[in-house]
Amino acid sequence: MDVWLIILASLFACFSIKILFTLLFSSKTTKKNEPAVKGELPPGPPPLPIIGHLHLLPKSNIELRSLIFNLSQKYGPILTLRVGSKPVIFVTSYPIAHQALVKNSAIFANRPPIVPVSYVLSNKRKDIGGSPYGLTWRLLRRNLMSEALHPTGVKSYSFARKRTLETMVNSFKQCSQHEAVRLFERLHQAVFSLFILMTYGDIGEDALKEVEHIQYTFLVSYAEFSVFASWPRLGKLIYRNKWKRYTDFLRRQYDILMPYIRARQKLKQEKGKEVDLVTYTDTLLDLEISEGASNQGKLVDADVLSLSSEFINAGADTTATMFHWIMAYLVKYPRVQAKLFAEISQVVEQGAEEVKEEDLQRIPYLKAVILECLRMHPPNASLVPHTNTEDMELCGYNIPKNTTVLIGTSIIGRDPTVWENPTEFRPERMMGSSDDNSGEDVADVSSYKMLPFGAGRRMCPGYKYGTLILEYFIANLVWNFEWKAVDDVDLTEKEEFLIVMKNPVRAKVIPRIK
Ligand code: HEM
Ligand SMILES: *[C@@H]1O[C@H](CO)[C@@H](O)[C@H](O)[C@H]1NC(C)=O
Ligand SMILES: *[C@@H]1O[C@H](CO)[C@@H](O)[C@H](O)[C@H]1NC(C)=O
Ligand SMILES: *[C@@H]1O[C@H](CO)[C@@H](O)[C@H](O)[C@H]1NC(C)=O
Repeated sequence: MDVWLIILASLFACFSIKILFTLLFSSKTTKKNEPAVKGELPPGPPPLPIIGHLHLLPKSNIELRSLIFNLSQKYGPILTLRVGSKPVIFVTSYPIAHQALVKNSAIFANRPPIVPVSYVLSNKRKDIGGSPYGLTWRLLRRNLMSEALHPTGVKSYSFARKRTLETMVNSFKQCSQHEAVRLFERLHQAVFSLFILMTYGDIGEDALKEVEHIQYTFLVSYAEFSVFASWPRLGKLIYRNKWKRYTDFLRRQYDILMPYIRARQKLKQEKGKEVDLVTYTDTLLDLEISEGASNQGKLVDADVLSLSSEFINAGADTTATMFHWIMAYLVKYPRVQAKLFAEISQVVEQGAEEVKEEDLQRIPYLKAVILECLRMHPPNASLVPHTNTEDMELCGYNIPKNTTVLIGTSIIGRDPTVWENPTEFRPERMMGSSDDNSGEDVADVSSYKMLPFGAGRRMCPGYKYGTLILEYFIANLVWNFEWKAVDDVDLTEKEEFLIVMKNPVRAKVIPRIK
């Protein structure tokens, strides 16, 4: 997209500067609280002919967020920008997002025909996140929730979480107490190896590293390849080298992942229903797309591949990113870390080696810390794009059917009309603060006015599982070690695939004497 932006931007530079001037300094500003005009699109800056607001759109999501934030100060919490002639709606307040996602759930659960993330990462194959609202989506999502993410499925992998934790703890025990340890690689590896195990079974250490590497490299290359989602035909012509790298990449991913899928197939043929531990891939191999859906019957190999890859990316990358942010905050704020350790000590016997999964329910402050980090750094800066299957009224405005709507999760988490001192890190604000929830309890994420996982029919199906992994790993890392800052922890954000830490956190890792 960059080259085209430059061409268009220079073509329209004079125009846009003029327009920006009138935009910034004109006296004809729309007042935020003016009653909405029925039947109109939400407000926004005046578009240019043909290109709409293309000249305003920045390259990265972090800049886009800053632009949308600035525009929302002027035009209010729901606004329109035009990409060419197509309107795209941006929502930056919780009540409006809630009205769309929850109250209008059934007509707002669709996805635009091209969701760049899915288009690029799954090579136009089936996945859950990018599927249109319909039979196939419902079947795939139900399969995920009733098997891999069902409490029984989750429980059957508790041994794997324990083993992964032990590996991670042991690797931190090897560190010298005077060393400044980079945490990211170890946290990342723990989370990815867990999800890969749940997807392909126990494939051995080297294979695990190879799968982790190919999946992670793909995610990090997403920005480079996303041009093929925005301008599919033109992109191929202009960026021949990039296109070649992209197709090479897909082939390499196929060559690496496919043998593990074949191995599960073989195992199932040999053992029938007797496999010890059901993996996500096994459930996909069993799946029958029912009558009425576009292509019924068994999933083809390439679809199994893209769905299993989605499971690893959607689950592990988000969870690992959060894990890194939360540890950074615990290093930066020793007060919070000490309070968390004190709470864990109330629940776990002295001398115990492990905080067990059953104990987690009794550590409300742990939940509060995680929620506060999710509020301030949701890994997805905005939800996966939604679109409406019917005309819809939102906040008095008309949203015509098939409009792309982006919901700004991270702006919502820092909305000063909802959160007092939104940039301050204060987990206590999550304790017993929601209306129906008194005392020391911390409720589910859905009872707070934020949307790190979305809401409604498209809400993240993995939010409970992601939270469980974070609680279990973090409780145990804090129980086993004290994490001491070596330098000022820099909380600057960077866009990779998700919103990650620009400067990875380093800490001294000091075993606690028990
Ligand atoms: C801290 C961890 C996580 C965060 C912050 C997160 C966040 C999100 C968000 C923002 C969405 C988009 C919701 C929407 O479009 O309205 C989403 C969707 C999704 N997530 Fe997660 N997620 C996390 C963990 C997981 C895990 C562990 C899984 C399990 C494999 C998972 C699987 C998915 C899938 C399949 C979708 C697509 C759902 C659909 O379109 O129907 N996520 N997640
Ligand atoms: C938003 O406004 C701030 C402060 O006025 C400015 O520094 C920033 O560059 C603006 N962002 C964009 C993308 O226009
Ligand atoms: C956001 O979250 C989901 C996983 O839960 C993921 O599939 C999706 O691709 C993410 N990333 C972006 C940039 O939207
Ligand atoms: C909305 O999108 C669907 C699927 O892409 C298409 O079949 C339909 O014609 C579109 N409707 C309008 C009003 O554009």
